[in-house]
Amino acid sequence: MQEQQYDYGMIGLGTMGRNLVFNMNDHGYSVAGYDKDLSQVTTLQKESGDRKIFSTGTLPEFINALKKPRVIMMLVPAGPIVDAVVNELKPFLSKDDLLMDCGNSHYTDTDKRTDQLAKENIHFMGVGVSGGESGARYGPSIMPGGAKEAYQRVAPMLEAVSAKINGEPCVTYLGIRSAGHYVKMVHNGIEYALMQLIAESYHLLKECAGMGNDELHEVYSKWNKGKLGSFLIEITADIFKQPDELAEGRLIDHILDSAHQKGTGQWTSQDAMDLQMPIPAIDTAVAIRDLSAFKEERQAAEKKLKGPDKQFSGNKEELVTKLEDAVYFAMINIYAQGLSLMQHASAKYNYGLKMEDIARIWRGGCIIRASLLEDIRTAFSKDPSLSNLLLGEGFPAKLETSQLGARSIIQTATETGIPLPVLMSTLSYYDSYRRGWLPSNLLQAQRDYFGAHTYERTDRKGIFHTHWNQKQD
Ligand code: 6PG
Repeated sequence: MQEQQYDYGMIGLGTMGRNLVFNMNDHGYSVAGYDKDLSQVTTLQKESGDRKIFSTGTLPEFINALKKPRVIMMLVPAGPIVDAVVNELKPFLSKDDLLMDCGNSHYTDTDKRTDQLAKENIHFMGVGVSGGESGARYGPSIMPGGAKEAYQRVAPMLEAVSAKINGEPCVTYLGIRSAGHYVKMVHNGIEYALMQLIAESYHLLKECAGMGNDELHEVYSKWNKGKLGSFLIEITADIFKQPDELAEGRLIDHILDSAHQKGTGQWTSQDAMDLQMPIPAIDTAVAIRDLSAFKEERQAAEKKLKGPDKQFSGNKEELVTKLEDAVYFAMINIYAQGLSLMQHASAKYNYGLKMEDIARIWRGGCIIRASLLEDIRTAFSKDPSLSNLLLGEGFPAKLETSQLGARSIIQTATETGIPLPVLMSTLSYYDSYRRGWLPSNLLQAQRDYFGAHTYERTDRKGIFHTHWNQKQD
């Protein structure tokens, strides 16, 4: 019998769970794994060799294998499966056991589960883990939320397994209750917007500048060495080189242009709408992913709806330089929107989030890691209450230069009919945010005109209503 020997438990032995088990074991922790699917149990058993890893498909055996008070991590799909696992576990748990949900659960579910389990003196933490399969194996970015005391119990292990940048672990305590899952949700919202932005740059380079896959590979590889340096740009460069095993040419040209999603980007937009926080780049990325699924309708529309006839006749190198600036400009705006949402949500939900910490732990391991995050971290360390990154130290100057690239690229795209929805939305956000006056006085006048909704004035205090000079016909 394997009684009470193992430091940690892991429920869900798919690739992510298994890789995290091996990562923990590399750092000296013994782990017992449990999965209902016996094929996963066998895979872990086979791959474990003589490591101190135990793998079982029997829940009582799994529970008995763990040291007390137990710490159990779950890496199972978000939604009802998490509740099913928690309910199945509950009868076996005792006071002070700690459950860590390491999946992409909706933050409101995490709050509910935290409260339910607290009634039974069981601690629950919502822990965002980013970095995909290789991150889980060799160092993810980890976004933990929950009670501080619970975090302290697992901090040494989380720090050991996380990615490191200049020796600093890409994990820190983020805040109470669902703080960790909230930050992971916004991470994914930013991920959606960055991915769409990069896809738009690809569209422009491919169809406007007529670049082939080798040239595209060169452009993104070069960009990755400069101010756009980031995981998503790096993998984009790789993608253009990937040969196809099933057909002639490169794989990218045989992938259907209809994108799927598990919903975390959409949740970010939904929550931002509820909080009335503007994050148009993320909203747009979600909407365009949705539009991509209307493949047949788009194909029919292509035959009927006309755009401009103009072809690009400019200099390709100049276009690439301007596009690099445009993508940089949009990247800054995308992070700015996600961070401002988190600043606001933190005040609303009492998380106590620190943007500097978030920027620091996003520098390595996660999907949205980028060299820009170092500058973002510095801006928030200088001014922790910064309401919008666009105003952070050094950012107005970066934006002043790069906006010119964005404007020029948008002009070229408009003339040639290439859609750049996220890039365009970031320029509109920037141009709106930097205006002391917006035409919303007209909205107020219209509301008061048709619905007596009242308005405020610029020259005196109070609420006003006007009997507008309405047309009678
Ligand atoms: C990460 C990723 C990860 C997952 C996304 C994909 O941080 O490691 O964000 O969580 O790949 O959830 O999301 P979609 O399926 O919605 O694109």
